[in-house]
Amino acid sequence: MAKITFVRRTGQQETVDAEMGTSVMEAALDNDIDEIVAECGGSMSCATCHVYVDDKDLGRLAPPSDTEIAMLEGAAAPVKPSSRLSCQLTMTAGLDGITVFLPEEQY
Ligand code: FES
Repeated sequence: MAKITFVRRTGQQETVDAEMGTSVMEAALDNDIDEIVAECGGSMSCATCHVYVDDKDLGRLAPPSDTEIAMLEGAAAPVKPSSRLSCQLTMTAGLDGITVFLPEEQY
């Protein structure tokens, strides 16, 4: 298991346990983090799983694919250097303790 902290739009933080190999998006859905919509179910075709990764964790992530970057351009909330699609962030021991901020909107 690995910990993920979600910071809601209100500033409220929720730390959840995620199985290794699951995505940050799946962990959000499993724990009723309703700011993550994930309309496409993780097939990288909706951008409704947009998150902002905490600066402290950016160096631990594999870089986004060209497809992910292209999808993020269609995200509803402003795209920042820390923007990622949470369905593309797979939990490993190296990501234990990651913090992600939830955007204002997903549509
Ligand atoms: S769930 Fe659709 S792009 Fe991530």
